[in-house]
Amino acid sequence: MSASLAGRLALVTGASRGIGEAVVTALAEQGARVVATDVLPEGLRALARTHGDQVVARPLDVTDSAAVESLVDTVERELGPLDIAVNVAGILRHADVAELGDEDWRATFAVNTDGVFHVSRATTRRMAERGHGALVTVASNAAGIPRAGLSAYAASKAAAVMFTKCLGLEVAARGVRCNTVSPGSTLTDMQRALWTAGDETEAARRVIEGDLAAHRTGIPLGRIADPADIADAVVFLVSDRARHITMHDLYVDGGATLRA
Ligand SMILES: NC(=O)c1ccc[n+]([C@@H]2O[C@H](COP(=O)([O-])OP(=O)(O)OC[C@H]3O[C@@H](n4cnc5c(N)ncnc54)[C@H](O)[C@@H]3O)[C@@H](O)[C@H]2O)c1
Repeated sequence: MSASLAGRLALVTGASRGIGEAVVTALAEQGARVVATDVLPEGLRALARTHGDQVVARPLDVTDSAAVESLVDTVERELGPLDIAVNVAGILRHADVAELGDEDWRATFAVNTDGVFHVSRATTRRMAERGHGALVTVASNAAGIPRAGLSAYAASKAAAVMFTKCLGLEVAARGVRCNTVSPGSTLTDMQRALWTAGDETEAARRVIEGDLAAHRTGIPLGRIADPADIADAVVFLVSDRARHITMHDLYVDGGATLRA
């Protein structure tokens, strides 16, 4: 089975930076043509400049159901049928429950859960009609282990994981595979925003060592992930090498959750 994605058309959300940008790059390197989408246009333009015709940049807010339907419709009419969809767009609001505002809760679910629903429904419905396709949702290892200050984020990601598994069951007989990739701490703007120590090396050391007072185990493999580590797992799951894998949740967290 080949890992090559030559001739495939992929849609990626949250593609402007971080893990989404790495996913676009990794898919393009395997030969896929990629529709890179995000609410932030700058990173998309840079990706399109780097990859030429192979990456098509389109603005998209995944919280807007009608906009998602319209974009998927336009992409399929102009570029052809989508073979691959990757949900990467996500936001994180850090606060203990007592301080968590209604807007923080709703905004988190609007992107991390509703957005996954909108994009997954629009893309897999069409894939199922054609009898083939692959979808990956990038969730988080926080979906599988309690974390202080991350209740809304973790709950929204847990919902996205179970949604993706149920969807995978519904469309399996029609040749569409749906999996999740659950990263641990990964070096991106989202991760840096959580770091309280001024010095990045010191902040990374604290994450790797863990903090028993905060019930964090640290990272057994001793490093923070690069976005490319997460992108590699995504590329595997959408490739034919994973043709017999669906409804799987692949943790890419250096062992941080001890897979408890
Ligand atoms: N970085 C980590 O440590 C880590 C760990 C676990 C899971 N994740 C998950 O990986 C994914 C990517 O995270 P990242 O670290 O690259 O974060 P990031 O903040 O660097 O990038 C997230 C991207 O999503 C986009 N986005 C936000 N709201 C959007 C919306 N409504 N519509 C479309 N795009 C939107 C942002 O503009 C941004 O480009 C997220 O779903 C995140 O929850 C990250």
